[in-house]
Amino acid sequence: MMIYIETKLTKLLGTQIPIVSAPMYYATTPAMAATATDAGAFGFIAAGFTSSSALVDELKSVRTVLSTAAEAPIPVGVGFIGWILDQTETSDDPRIPAVLAERPVAIWFAFGVDLGKYVARVRQYDAGREHRTLIFVIVNSVDEAVRAANEWGVDVIVVQGNEAGGHGRGDSPTLHMLLPAVLAAVTSGPVILAAGGISTGKQVAAVLAMGADGVVLGSRLLGTPECMYLEQSKEVIFKSKLGSTIRSDVFDEINHTAFWPEGYDGRAIANDILGDHKAGLTLEERLKRYEASKLNGESNRLVIWAGDAIAYVNDNTTTKAIIHQLHDEAVTMIQSVAGTLNSSAEIAILILGLWLFSPFALRRIITNDNGDQVPPGPNIRYFFLRKYAERPLRSWAKQYGRLFSIWMGTQLVVVISDPKVARDLLVTNGAVFSTRKRYFMKNQTILRGRAITASEYGETWRQHRKLAMTLLTPKAIDGYSHSLNYESHILMRSLLDDGLFGEVPVNPHNYAGRYALNNMLYISFGIRTDFSRDPLVERALQLAMEFMDLTGPWSNVVDFFEPLQWIPSRMRSRGRKLHDNLIEVYGSMILRVKAKLDSGDFVPECLVKTLIQDQEKEKLDWEDLCMLSAVFTLGGVHSTSGIIQWFLALIPSHPEVVHRAQEELDRVVGRDRLPTAEDEANLPYIRAVIKEVQRVHAPFWMATPHCSSEDFTYEGHFIPKNTLVVLNCWTLHHNEERYKDAMHFNPDRYLGDNLSCAESAKLANVMERDHWTFGAGRRICPGIHVAERELWLAISQLLWSFNFHALPEEPISLKEYEGLSGRTPLPFRLIFEPRHDQVHPTLRENREVTYWTL
Ligand code: HEM
Ligand SMILES: Cc1cc2nc3c(=O)[nH]c(=O)nc-3n(C[C@H](O)[C@H](O)[C@H](O)COP(=O)(O)O)c2cc1C
Repeated sequence: MMIYIETKLTKLLGTQIPIVSAPMYYATTPAMAATATDAGAFGFIAAGFTSSSALVDELKSVRTVLSTAAEAPIPVGVGFIGWILDQTETSDDPRIPAVLAERPVAIWFAFGVDLGKYVARVRQYDAGREHRTLIFVIVNSVDEAVRAANEWGVDVIVVQGNEAGGHGRGDSPTLHMLLPAVLAAVTSGPVILAAGGISTGKQVAAVLAMGADGVVLGSRLLGTPECMYLEQSKEVIFKSKLGSTIRSDVFDEINHTAFWPEGYDGRAIANDILGDHKAGLTLEERLKRYEASKLNGESNRLVIWAGDAIAYVNDNTTTKAIIHQLHDEAVTMIQSVAGTLNSSAEIAILILGLWLFSPFALRRIITNDNGDQVPPGPNIRYFFLRKYAERPLRSWAKQYGRLFSIWMGTQLVVVISDPKVARDLLVTNGAVFSTRKRYFMKNQTILRGRAITASEYGETWRQHRKLAMTLLTPKAIDGYSHSLNYESHILMRSLLDDGLFGEVPVNPHNYAGRYALNNMLYISFGIRTDFSRDPLVERALQLAMEFMDLTGPWSNVVDFFEPLQWIPSRMRSRGRKLHDNLIEVYGSMILRVKAKLDSGDFVPECLVKTLIQDQEKEKLDWEDLCMLSAVFTLGGVHSTSGIIQWFLALIPSHPEVVHRAQEELDRVVGRDRLPTAEDEANLPYIRAVIKEVQRVHAPFWMATPHCSSEDFTYEGHFIPKNTLVVLNCWTLHHNEERYKDAMHFNPDRYLGDNLSCAESAKLANVMERDHWTFGAGRRICPGIHVAERELWLAISQLLWSFNFHALPEEPISLKEYEGLSGRTPLPFRLIFEPRHDQVHPTLRENREVTYWTL
C-alpha cells in the first residue's frame, strides 16, 4: 500500500504529496508546473515580466495538459514578484485580474515593499464570485511572517532561507534558523512551507519533523527536462558542488535586472562574473567580457540563478521522478527514525521527549472545524510553576500576547492578560467559562468536590452559592454591621494595648488574622474569639495557611500529571490530613450549634443555622455542611487579613500618603470618634488608598482558575472544552494602558472613582474597572461586599488611630510570602504610635456586642 504524508498543505490543496514546485522566472515552464501537479504535488508558473495574455495562454495550456474541466479551477498557481507588479498593475496591462479570471487554484506573491495590497486585491476580486484563490506569500523574517499571518490573512507562508536559489533578502537567516522562529511566532492560521536548499527526501523529513506543513522545491528542479534553462547551464549545474553558489548583486548588474528593492540580492553560481567584479573591473568592462564569453559559447560567465540545493542535482531526472523520489525517501526516513527505537530505555526516553515537546504538534492538531488553533504559547509541557508564577506568566504574555496557552502536564491552560478578553470570555460568555477543574489536591482531596469554590458549574453550585449569598448581600451585612464595627474597634484597641501605646513593636499578622477570622466566625457560627493567641484562632489560621500552601493553581505536580495521583506522597497525605482536620474543627462547631438548636436555645442568624434548618430541604449531607462553613474561613481570612498586612507593610515608606489620608480624616471625621461605614463616601482619598493596595498586592495573583464547559472559539483561537482559564491578575494590574506608571504605589490614580469594587466589576467599559482582585464573571468572589466593608473599617480606623514606624534595624521586606495560592508579606514588626490625645479615650470606650458562645 502506498503511504502518503498528510499535512495541512495536502488537505488545503487536496494533493497527495506535501511538495510545491516554485515559480522560477527564467526557469519554470507551464510543463513543469503541470507535471508537479500531475505527480501528486502542486506546481506554480512564474509571472516575472510576462504579459497578461501570455500568462493566460500558459494557464490555458496547463488546463489542457491536465485535462481540467472548463468549470473547474486550474490546479496550479501563478507566482508574481511584488516590485514588478508595482509597475505592471498601474499600466494598461494589469495582470492580476487577467490571471484571476482564469481561476488558478493559487496566487503567489514575493519580494515587494507592500505585498499586503495585492493580497487585498485578490480577496476583493474573489468577494464577487464563488472561487476563492489560495494566497501564498514568501517571507524572509519573522516580522514578515507575522504580518502576512495577522495583517494580510494569507493562506500559506513560504519561509525562504538564505540558501535558496534566485532572489530574497540578503540578510535572511538560513532555513534551519528561520523556520523554528516563524513556527513559534505564527502558531495559528496559515499553512507554513519551508524553502531553501531542499534537495533530498531526508531534508523533507527533517523540516516536516520541525513542524513545517510542506516544502518548496526550486533549485532541485533546475536540471529537469521541464526546466527552460540552457543545456549548457544544466551541464554546469550537474558539475556543481556544495559551496558553488553565492548571493550577490553582480549577477543582476550583468543581467540588466538591478531593480530589486533595498536589501534584496540573488543567489547564483559563482563564476567569472564574480571574478571580474572582484578584480575591480567597471560594469562596462564586465559586460563586454560577459557578451564575448556568451558569443564564444563559454560556460564560465553564464548567469545561472541557483541555490545550494544544486549540489545534489547530478542528472536530468524528470520533475515527476524527483517529486516521487523525494516523497518516498522522506517516508522511508520517517519510518527508519521510528525504527531506531530498539531498546525499551530509548523508547521511553523518546516517548518522554516527544510527550514533553508535543505541544508543538498539538497546537497544529487541536483545531476547530475552521482550522483555528489553540492560542499561541510555549511548545513544551510544564509540570508546575512553583515560585512567583506571575513572573513567567508576565513574560509569556509579552511574548505571545493577551491570550496565550500553556500545557501544564496533561492540562491545557489558557491565560488571560487583557481586560477586554477577560470580559469577553468570563463575563459575556460566562455560561461557557464558569466551571472549575477537578484539581486533584484542592477539589478532590481537600474539599472533596464540595464547597462553592470547588463545585462544578451547575445546579449544586447555584444552590450552594445562593445559600451562602443570603449572608453576604449588602443588606444582610447591615444586619451584622454591629459585629464588624466591634471587631475593628477591638483590632485598634489591641494594637494600642499590646504595642504599649507605641512603646514596643508589634507583628500585625495575628491581629489582622484574628480580625478577619472573627468576622468569618460570626457570619458562619455567630461566635467570636477573644485572644489573638486563642488555640481556636491558631488552629483555624494554621488550617487556612495549610490550605493556601497546598492549593496553588500552578504549584502541584500531582494536579497536572495524573499517574502521580495514585502514588502515595507527602503532598497527598498532607491534603488528606487537611480534609480530616477541616471536618474535625468545623464539624465539632456545627455539632455544638445543632445541639443548641435542638434544645431550643437562642442562636443568632448565621450560615450554619441556615444550613442546619434547610438541610433536608436543600438535601445537604454532613460534608456539605462542614465544607460550606470551612470555605468561608478559608476564603475570607488570609485574603482580607493579607490586604490589611500589605497596607501596613507599604505605608511606613509612604509618609506623604499617610499625611494626606489623616488630613482628610481630621477634616471630615474629626478626632472625637472613629470613622464608620457611613463616612466612606466622604473620604475619597482613603478609598483610593485601599484600592491601590489591592491593585499592587492582590492576595491571589491568578484568582481561582475557571474552566470551559464546551468548545469555544475566540478571535480565531480555539479553546476546547475542559481548558483551564486563568486570569493573569499581576499582568492585568500592571497594564500601562490602564495604570500609568503601574509599578508605583500611587493612590491618586483612583481619585474620582466613587464605585465600590462590586459596582466597578459591573462597569460596561472594562478598561475602567478598578482591579481584578476579586476575580470576574459568574464566580466572582461572593464575599466581595463583606470584604470591602472589613477593609474599609480596618484601614480607615488604623489611619485614624496611629502613626506607623518601621524599625530601622528591621527593614520591612516587600518580598512576598511564598504561599502557593495566596500571598501575604513576610513577617514584620511596626510601632503603632497613637496619633493624638483622643485615640486612647476613643478606643477605651466600651462597645458592647452580645456574643453567643458555643
Ligand atoms: C479581600 C478579600 C478577598 C479576596 C481578595 C477574595 C478573592 C477571591 C477570588 C479571586 C475568588 C475567585 C473568583 C473567580 O473564580 O473568578 C474568590 C472566590 C470566592 N470567595 Fe473570595 N475573596 C475575599 C474575601 C472573601 C470572603 C470574606 C469570603 C466569605 C465570606 C469569600 C468567599 C469566597 C468564595 C466562597 C469563593 C468561591 C466562589 C465560587 O466559586 O463561586 N471571599 N474570592
Ligand atoms: C532560477 C530561480 C528563479 C526564481 N524565480 C522566482 C520568482 O520568479 N518568483 C519567486 O517568488 N521566487 C523565485 N525563486 C525562488 C523560489 O521561489 C524558491 O524560494 C527557491 O527556489 C527555494 O530555494 P531552492 O532554490 O534552494 O529550492 C527563484 C529561484 C530560482 C532558483
